[in-house]
Amino acid sequence: MSAAPQGGAPGTRPAGVRDETEAAAHVREMFGRIAPRYDLLNHLLSLDIDKVWRRRVARRFRGVLQDSKADVLDLCCGTGDLAFAFRRQAPDGAEIVGSDFVPEMLVRARAKAAAAKAAVEFIEADALNLPFAPASFDLVSCAFGFRNLANYECGLNEILRVLKPGGAAAILEFAEPSGKLFGGLYRFYFRRILPVLGGIISGNASAYAYLPSSVSAFPSPEALQAQFERAGFVEIQFERWTAGIVTLHTAKRPRGT
Ligand SMILES: C[S@@+](CC[C@H](N)C(=O)[O-])C[C@H]1O[C@@H](n2cnc3c(N)ncnc32)[C@H](O)[C@@H]1O
Repeated sequence: MSAAPQGGAPGTRPAGVRDETEAAAHVREMFGRIAPRYDLLNHLLSLDIDKVWRRRVARRFRGVLQDSKADVLDLCCGTGDLAFAFRRQAPDGAEIVGSDFVPEMLVRARAKAAAAKAAVEFIEADALNLPFAPASFDLVSCAFGFRNLANYECGLNEILRVLKPGGAAAILEFAEPSGKLFGGLYRFYFRRILPVLGGIISGNASAYAYLPSSVSAFPSPEALQAQFERAGFVEIQFERWTAGIVTLHTAKRPRGT
């Protein structure tokens, strides 16, 4: 399975889909199928580094999270791990909400919340058509979900709309490390080993073939930064983590808008 080539990609386009509607349906169905093994594979295939990345995002936004009136939304929350990392940094008064459009993911997120007695509300919602009023949140995050949206421009517009003026956006995504030695080894692992392991363990080979192809089709950090600018964000920055395997993009909704 492949995705659209980089440069001008309007959103994810898994192989065989004709348009945005089909892309969203494909993504929804794929994540529904891998949900039962999603956590196991995440931790296994990343050697647990995914936990470090989410904790690091939460620490980065500690200033926002420690406000007992903070309203926080984690988009494309999957089984909820970033929302739980936020919860651990936040006082009781802060509201943490996770949203995703795949019920099979949300069932698991809610079960984890109940088991850990973590006050996080999980809502079924499409990131491209959020059921929240404008200017609702101080922080809107999205970890490893944005790349899967069928329309990146629409995704950024929705984030901007639901952020309060001055509120922060954080998008954590996979990227392709550029270094020759490490980059080469990583690409070998990501394109050859991971799809095989992921396919065997999840029972869904195409989902784990989609992962590397969707990462190579995703806009570069510089191109995504330009998209943030076009959408009307300010204070746009990105930083590469773990030798460039992931990129954290941060930006704000302008005050007074
Ligand atoms: C790779 S998982 C990431 C989950 C979680 N954020 C994490 O860090 O593990 C991507 C998630 O994005 C969700 N997703 C993709 N497109 C979406 C959309 N348009 N609206 C809501 N959720 C979406 C999928 O259902 C899936 O749970």
